[in-house]
Amino acid sequence: MTLANEAANLPVPNHIAIIMDGNGRWAKKRGLPRTAGHKAGAEAFRRIANYCRTLGVRYLTVYAFSTENWKRSQEEVGGIMRLLRAYLREALRDMEKNHVRFRFFGDLTQLDSKLQKLCLDAQNRSAVFDHEVQVNFCLNYGGRDEIIRAVRAYAADVAAGKYSAEDLTESFFSEFLDSAGVPDPELVIRPSGEQRTSNFLPWQSVYSEYVFMDVLWPDFMPADLDAAIAEYHRRNRRFGGA
Ligand code: FPP
Repeated sequence: MTLANEAANLPVPNHIAIIMDGNGRWAKKRGLPRTAGHKAGAEAFRRIANYCRTLGVRYLTVYAFSTENWKRSQEEVGGIMRLLRAYLREALRDMEKNHVRFRFFGDLTQLDSKLQKLCLDAQNRSAVFDHEVQVNFCLNYGGRDEIIRAVRAYAADVAAGKYSAEDLTESFFSEFLDSAGVPDPELVIRPSGEQRTSNFLPWQSVYSEYVFMDVLWPDFMPADLDAAIAEYHRRNRRFGGA
């Protein structure tokens, strides 16, 4: 039995999160500029988002741009932002047909105003589609930054007399995060051979199963997702219990 067939008979995780890594190496191997790798990465995202919808995955969260990615060349950052703008324009155009809900995790205030507007339009206009598939784009996202922004928001409410410090619980704190209302991912996938979490969903992934894979993100195929889901099913999730 192939891994793909093995996964086909098992329930899919409700929420899958992916670190879309390896675009640069994919381009380098072909003697292409890094931006060509990101373009192929955006295609891989389309392919995998469609496949997630076919499988019935309810939430797909992808790391598109981290708070650390600003350190890259202006050309590379500009290329990624252009791809995102083009994708969101297309998503807004096809919204009625595709029924995908979009959310954005990260500090959008640092993005250029056109991209910010596209993100907010996509988020607002797709909010009605809350029963099929939801894509969460992590954009200018860092897990530590998300936690700091949440702490600041909570502290402001405490200072305004809305809550006291003692009111804070884990579930209440979650409501101050960018991911408010979204269940934690059961499965986090990192392709490209790197084995670290890189500031991705630190609060939300404490009990996620991590699957690291050797394939570069632009080469990631539906069969690779099947393989990751099959590996997830082989894990014994205990959530700290015996
Ligand atoms: C990591 O690979 C990838 C990124 C920093 C950018 C991811 C962005 C996209 C896939 C395009 C976004 C657009 C849409 C529409 C989803 P890397 O560049 O760090 O690769 P490397 O480790 O091989 O250098």
